[in-house]
Amino acid sequence: MHREFEPAIHYWGTPVVLISTLNSDGSTNIAPMSSAWWLGWSCMLGLDASSQTVANLRRQGQCVLNLAGAENAEAVNALARTTGASKVPLHKKALGYRYESNKAQKGGFELLESLLVSPSRLLQCPVHLEAEVTGIRPFGGQDPRFAVPACAIELRILKAHIEEELLAGPDRVDADSWHPLLMSFRHLYTRGAKLLDSRLARGEEAQYAPWKGRGPKAWATQAALSWSSRKYRVKEEGADEETI
Ligand SMILES: Cc1cc2nc3c(=O)[nH]c(=O)nc-3n(C[C@H](O)[C@H](O)[C@H](O)COP(=O)(O)O)c2cc1C
Repeated sequence: MHREFEPAIHYWGTPVVLISTLNSDGSTNIAPMSSAWWLGWSCMLGLDASSQTVANLRRQGQCVLNLAGAENAEAVNALARTTGASKVPLHKKALGYRYESNKAQKGGFELLESLLVSPSRLLQCPVHLEAEVTGIRPFGGQDPRFAVPACAIELRILKAHIEEELLAGPDRVDADSWHPLLMSFRHLYTRGAKLLDSRLARGEEAQYAPWKGRGPKAWATQAALSWSSRKYRVKEEGADEETI
């Protein structure tokens, strides 16, 4: 039987990302976070507005999303309750956070130069997504149960890198080999084996990338997409988005 309840948090289970950003002195800050989701080549992040990562993204506008695999669990744990903000915000102090000037070293990560953005990648993470900020807006502020000022940060992914053994083809991830680190109600997990043959996964994954196709089938998809883009165009509602 279901019952009503009022959990303190809704951390149902999302992938852990280590975001690299550039501090004002040119050094790299990395921060574990897990409020992240992707649609196409865009990504939305949910971040505490007091974090050093947000300050860096507002100022410099670029980051690398280093996706953590199960093998990165201990390193992520070592970075929990740390901030790159030298003045630790009061609400974080109350939660036992401390300032850490070199979190890459603290987590045992080596830095790799990125191709298109200034922040570095983390060698030990299996996936790197170089990205730029396309929008920052307030998040959750209308709800009195929301504990801290937060923002939603939209990113455009510019370049993706992956460990070769996770590939099932030149541009296709082998979902059976990819074991993301997941955070659920503050605990760290990875996922189990595939449950069943997914109906969604039938057909070529390339259908999601009509811009790569050639020939009549690709032209038909592009025409359908162009029609849908006009019919379902979404206009910005409300006026609380910041332009950066
Ligand atoms: C596994 C894990 C997941 C986290 N998820 C988030 C998150 O989604 N959003 C967020 O703002 N903070 C999250 N945090 C807390 C951040 O790491 C924390 O805000 C930290 O101070 C950010 O570092 P920075 O201040 O150097 O940017 C998470 C921490 C851990 C360990």
